[in-house]
Amino acid sequence: MKVTVDPDRCQGHARCWEICPEVFSLDEVGHSVVTSGDVPSALEAEVTKAAANCPERAITVSLAQPEPPLPAPSPPPGTSAVAL
Ligand code: F3S
Repeated sequence: MKVTVDPDRCQGHARCWEICPEVFSLDEVGHSVVTSGDVPSALEAEVTKAAANCPERAITVSLAQPEPPLPAPSPPPGTSAVAL
């Protein structure tokens, strides 16, 4: 999971920091700063809760992209694939 805060939307309500200080900190004017954009799995629930509780909807969470599937192996030379 990745998380970002839109600095143009953040108004400094600090709910994110109260819910998950391991990921969110506050700058000198009280606006949220993400300290770790890659969220450890143990903190995903708290980050999701923080995003849901931001009154400005300034927090965006996104799931990591799954690995693309590997291509099917080619048949060994001298053989042909048989469809079943
Ligand atoms: Fe800002 Fe929302 Fe946190 S307004 S300080 S991102 S709760």
